Parts: sequence; structure tokens; C-alpha cells
Amino acid sequence: VRWNKPVTLVAVSAEEIAVAELLKAHLEQKNISVTLQPETTARDFVKLEINSAAGSHPEGYRLTVNQNGIVIRAGTGAGLFYGVQSFIQLAGADARQIPFVEIEDQPRFSYRGLHLDVGRHMFPVDFIKKYIDLMARFKFNRFHWHLTEDQGWRIEIKKYPKLQQVAAHRNETVVGHAGKSKTYDGTPYGGYHTQDEIKSVVEYARKRFITIIPEIELPGHSQAALAAYPQLGCTGGPYQVATTWGVFENVYCAGKEETFIFLQGVLDEVLELFPSEYIHIGGDECPKTSWKKCKFCQARIKKEKLKDEHELQSYFIQRIEKYLNSKGRQIIGWDEILEGGLAPNATVMSWRGEAGGIEAAKKQHRVIMTPGNWCYFDHYQDTAANEPLAIGGYTPVHEVYSYEPVPPQLSPQQATYILGAQANLWTEYITTPAHAEYMAYPRACALAEVVWSDTKSKDYNTFINRLKANRWLLDDLGVNYAQHIFK
Ligand code: ACM
Ligand code: ZN
Repeated sequence: VRWNKPVTLVAVSAEEIAVAELLKAHLEQKNISVTLQPETTARDFVKLEINSAAGSHPEGYRLTVNQNGIVIRAGTGAGLFYGVQSFIQLAGADARQIPFVEIEDQPRFSYRGLHLDVGRHMFPVDFIKKYIDLMARFKFNRFHWHLTEDQGWRIEIKKYPKLQQVAAHRNETVVGHAGKSKTYDGTPYGGYHTQDEIKSVVEYARKRFITIIPEIELPGHSQAALAAYPQLGCTGGPYQVATTWGVFENVYCAGKEETFIFLQGVLDEVLELFPSEYIHIGGDECPKTSWKKCKFCQARIKKEKLKDEHELQSYFIQRIEKYLNSKGRQIIGWDEILEGGLAPNATVMSWRGEAGGIEAAKKQHRVIMTPGNWCYFDHYQDTAANEPLAIGGYTPVHEVYSYEPVPPQLSPQQATYILGAQANLWTEYITTPAHAEYMAYPRACALAEVVWSDTKSKDYNTFINRLKANRWLLDDLGVNYAQHIFK
């Protein structure tokens, strides 16, 4: 089909119209005039239809292009949206090349995630929305928004104003790699997202069928919060918002009731902002040094008959889980939450390799795979000496593409606990949107295929050829993607 202008989009229900509006915006951007109406006798039309008879998969769709017209049909709004994304891709950079096709498609995994750390460095709301636009284009459906860190607290919590006044700002930032550098820039850095900004991002993502999973780190990676409210630490402080990168010993005191009252107050506002069933509570990299020396923590261990500080961490996580479960939510934690006993309903995000994910799946807990070797997009993607400074590692596009989220150690039944996979973008060494795009793309395109497509057709060379042919999907949105595989 080579269609003539104008194009008619046919949509009837509010949900169909909402998806059609997004397609309309895309076509209009390509200088194609579009009318959106409930029915048509025109020749050049795209019909968007949600119909439960179209298939039972909650994210599947059917796309038909033939001499009679173009029909995108799905059982749900999400499926319809993915059908539209495939249609956009097929129609090409000028949105005018429409081949006859009959496509029936659905994702392999229900959790297809990208993460962004805004604790180490902040990004404008417009960039967060662009990140979401890109995710949508490649059919990701979960955005893990890492909102609190030792170096900055980035979500407005009205009940605790010092999180805005104190925890959101650091005095300066280490220059160069934190493993080697003792130089600081002497420049204050900070900021936070207001609740209004967060609401607008959540709504923007919802329209694109992306659920935002907020992460509020506990008990570790909490030094910025302690700088604001030092009574929440074991020693009472004083603490300062961290100015270098690493793992810090100043963590929430697990013995004081005040800690839990504070965190529940924070989470109450988080739950108001984020409708996601899942709330990420961190759980990684929590040194036990201060707990070992703290009379409150030691009293808690005795009172609760805990064996050691690992069980104290488990107590901490389980208490938070109970609170969130009581509000109808579920927790996700990094794989350290296995240590000292897994909270009964927790989902494990496996980052230190796959062992934690395997253990959790065997214990019949849900798992999201994000092992460093394949899924850490803060790693180097090339060995050239002129790559921008990164934290370390080496994770080129072919490594990402090679990832298989279901480990062979799992039985088919255990494998059903693997919800999917996610790539993480930690931003110690990523200070600008352009650099974030450079690290995320095209590696995210490789992960997008890993989590969507079945493995029968998996082939790196054909993937690269398709990516080359479709690089306009990135150019279209002005993405500063890495060029290595396009040379
Ligand atoms: C992590 O990378 N600390 C989860
Ligand atoms: Zn303590």
C-alpha cells in the first residue's frame, strides 16, 4: 500500500480513541493529515479495534494490511498500543511505506523493564518523558524509577520537608572515577521532582502502557535521608549527603520505631502518586557495621529473637512488606533480600548475577532478571580508549542480545516465576540526557527483543540488520545513540 492523504483513523471506544490519538500525532508529525472518526467509507483507513475475540493474551495484537485496508485488533488497550507501535515501524521513516502483512504477535515476558537512577544525577522531566517515549517505541512496559540515594533524595514528600531542603542537595561531587579520585568539584548539586511533576510523568507513562515502579531505598543507600533526619540513623549523626560514589555505612537504624514511622509516612505519599502494584524497596548493599554497634539494633535483635544482623535486615524488609501488603501492594527488592530470610511475598530483582533469581524462583517467588553482565547499561559498551568514563565492566550490544532470562537450572514450572528482565542505568558517571541516551541505546533495543520475542528466530546478525534498517526509529526522536554497531 502507498496511501494517499488524508488518512482516516477509525476508533470508537474511549480506549481505542486514546491509542488512535497517539498514532495520529505520529502521522501528523510526518506531515500526513489525519481524521479520527468512528466509521469510514474511505479507502485509506486504519481501524483500531479492541475486541476480546481478538485473542486472549493481555498484550497481544493482530495487524492486517491488505487491499481492503489496515486493521489493528487486540483484546486490550495495551495490545492495541503494541500493534500501533509495530505499524509505525512497518510504515517506515516517512510513514508512507505500508506492506501487505498479516501479523499475530505477543510478548514472551510480562515484565519488560528499563531503570533510571536519578539519585546520582537528575534529569529534566522532559527527558524522563522522552525516555518513556523510547521505551514505548520498543514495547517496554515497566519503568523502574530509582528516586532515592546516598547522594540525593529526588521525590517530594510533603510530610518531611527536610527531604527537600537538605536531602535533595549535596555540597559537591567527586571528579573522575570515585575508585581513584580524591578531587571534588566544589559545586553544589541537587534538586527534586515535585509531586505535580511526578503525577504528570505517571500519567504520561500510563497512556503509553508503561507502569512506573518507584524505588525508595531501604535500609541502605539512605545517607541523604539521614542527613535530613539524623535521628533515623544509629548514632544520631550528624550525616551529610554523600559527595562521592560507593556503599556507605550510614543506614536507617533498624532498632528505632521512629525509622518505621518515617518510612511509612514516606510510603503513604509514594502510594498516592504511583498506582503500580509493585513498589521497589531497594534492600541492596546495606553494610551492617552501624547495626552491630547500635544498642537499639541489638535490643531489636534480642527482642525479636533474631540470629544476627542479616536476620535484622530481613525483619526490616518484612515489616515494610507487611505494611505495603496491607495497602494492597507488593514489594520488589534487590537480591540481597534473600539474606536472612526472604519476605513471604517479595519479588526478587537479581542483579549480582542470576544466583539470587534462581534461588528465589526455586522458592516459588517471582523474579525479575537484571544480572550485571548483560543488563548493566552503565558498563562500557566498547573497548576503545575514547569511550566516556564509565563505572567499569564491558557489556556491548551483542552481550545484551545474547541474554537468556530463563536459566537452564530451572524446571519449566520454576521458570514461570521469571517475570522478565530489565536493564539498569546507574548514573554516577552519567550527567546529561545525551550521555544517558548514549549508554541506553541501542543496547535497550537488544534487550527489547530478548524480552519480547520468542527464541526460535533469535539471531544476532539478522537483529543487527533489522536494527540498521530501523535506526530511523531512534533518529526520529533525536536520540544520541551509540554508533559502534552502525559503523
Ligand atoms: C545495585 O546495582 N546496587 C542494585
Ligand atoms: Zn541502630
